[in-house]
Amino acid sequence: MSKMNKRMRSASYMQQYETMFQCPICQAAIQIKDLKSMVCKNQHTFDFTKQGYVNMTTHAIKTKYDKALFESRRKISDDHRFFYPVSELLAQKISQYMKDKNMTIVDMGCGEGSQLSDINDILTQVYHKQAVNIGVDLAKEGILTAAKYDDAPMWLVADLAYSPFSKQQFDVVLNILSPSNYEEFTRILKDDGFIMKVVPQHHYLQELRKAIFADTDKQTYSNKDTVERFKQSFGLVEKVDICYTVTLQQDALQALIQMTPLGWTITEQQMHEFLHEGMREITVDLAILIGRKRFVV
Ligand SMILES: C[S@@+](CC[C@H](N)C(=O)[O-])C[C@H]1O[C@@H](n2cnc3c(N)ncnc32)[C@H](O)[C@@H]1O
Ligand SMILES: [Zn+2]
Repeated sequence: MSKMNKRMRSASYMQQYETMFQCPICQAAIQIKDLKSMVCKNQHTFDFTKQGYVNMTTHAIKTKYDKALFESRRKISDDHRFFYPVSELLAQKISQYMKDKNMTIVDMGCGEGSQLSDINDILTQVYHKQAVNIGVDLAKEGILTAAKYDDAPMWLVADLAYSPFSKQQFDVVLNILSPSNYEEFTRILKDDGFIMKVVPQHHYLQELRKAIFADTDKQTYSNKDTVERFKQSFGLVEKVDICYTVTLQQDALQALIQMTPLGWTITEQQMHEFLHEGMREITVDLAILIGRKRFVV
């Protein structure tokens, strides 16, 4: 299939759902024109790219998340199923809470998209549910990688704080190891929708943290403030913990360093020490905070 076809196919798919969108600049409704662009009534225009995603950012963005980081994250996800148990648990929880067979899901800060793709596959194959999926990330390189691997979800480069969605569109807002904007998440959630936020726990990547932050209090991670802030914004339905280890060989350990912001501060010496054993067990220790909209009476 030609690249042109991919752009048009994506535009035609999104056209079915165009009422879900609004202009991120002026908040007017958006229409898809000529299977080429998303255009609001004030003529703000966002073009479909040849890879099928749309860039809906409103200002120039500088981000430290680059192509190497997202390719490494994809490698760790696909080859080593590093986050797969988390995707399985999220799909199970979505299925448990969403009684309908059809639903709308947005992943805010989706990175290279592997989790949203995996969750969608599991929901369809294991739970026989159909979701309209949208992945949003501010980093173009993340969305580019996501669109390259999977054209099923709609992929958007956008700021999760100024998202291009009309109000009350989503049954589920996912937010996995990414920044949040709870006001915006509340706006786009349906009244009976759920937010599922994945946060690191105490031992998340502790082997790498120890190598970088030896003798400092950053060796372990505390999510106390994050959990508190979540509880202030949403009714906490459930906090589900998930902890496991994944054995990685040296090349995968190298990819692990590259796939996380922790890698931005590692020195040559620390990297050498971290890699020299050749094979290591790496701890994934996360929690899923599941919340509902809070209603003021
Ligand atoms: C640690 S990565 C997690 C990515 C993905 N959810 C995962 O777990 O693999 C954090 C992501 O948040 C994105 N991000 C940071 N600020 C953002 C914003 N304001 N709007 C949208 N995405 C943002 C980054 O570009 C990055 O992809
Ligand atoms: Zn506009």
